[in-house]
Amino acid sequence: MNYKAPNHIAIIMDGNGRWAQKRGLKRTKGHQKGAEVLKKISEYVYDKKVKVLSVFAFSTENWKRDKEEVDYLMDLFLKAFKKNFDVIKQKGVKVIFSGLKEKLNDKVINAMEKMTEETKSNKNGIFNVCLNYGGQDEIVEATKKIAEEVKQGSLDISDINNEVLNKHMFNDLPPIDLLIRTSGEYRVSNFMLWQMAYAEFYFTDVLWPDFDEKELDKAIESFNERDRRFGAVKK
Ligand code: FPP
Repeated sequence: MNYKAPNHIAIIMDGNGRWAQKRGLKRTKGHQKGAEVLKKISEYVYDKKVKVLSVFAFSTENWKRDKEEVDYLMDLFLKAFKKNFDVIKQKGVKVIFSGLKEKLNDKVINAMEKMTEETKSNKNGIFNVCLNYGGQDEIVEATKKIAEEVKQGSLDISDINNEVLNKHMFNDLPPIDLLIRTSGEYRVSNFMLWQMAYAEFYFTDVLWPDFDEKELDKAIESFNERDRRFGAVKK
């Protein structure tokens, strides 16, 4: 079979806590290992001809976790943004963020802005990190922006369509082709609701810290076996 690369892969990196608990370690150790796995996957995925990788790093609901875990994650993001993604930057990948800035600390925001600025002209791929992100929030924010434009008179209601909605999302991204969720959970958890309208879903029992290049290959192989009809009937 000819290799067909999913243009946009999105990953819900689940199971860090369980991975650590199974080993009698603190949950934060699972996140630490999870960050190493993300580094490796991000360095591999663009070689598979994938153009966009989106990852769920922190949801708007994750603030409900213990302060110690939230602080650890923020610190981990900061460290990762400072050094984990040098290789993909060198490969010409553009790094962007989706989510709300509110509640994030200044150090994290500065590191995010620095990465975005440094990579803004890169053309070889997009790495979209969803941080303080909620899919319903994204649609609400887009709706507010559109309503404001209609109010100001710069947009006509009759011109609102899917493309206009897409342009008002946190980022103007192509649709998700393949959604991967690790750790045996079969949920979407408010992740990229708008962009996953026609995504193929791939669920695996593997916990995120055990995920690797071979597991990604398996997911892409499974995607290659799917018959995507987008609502049409195959001739
Ligand atoms: C879900 O596992 C994972 C998270 C909430 C955090 C994801 C973060 C990383 C993989 C760290 C690296 C990220 C970046 C962007 C550098 P969980 O804690 O909900 O696991 P559980 O369901 O087993 O408790």
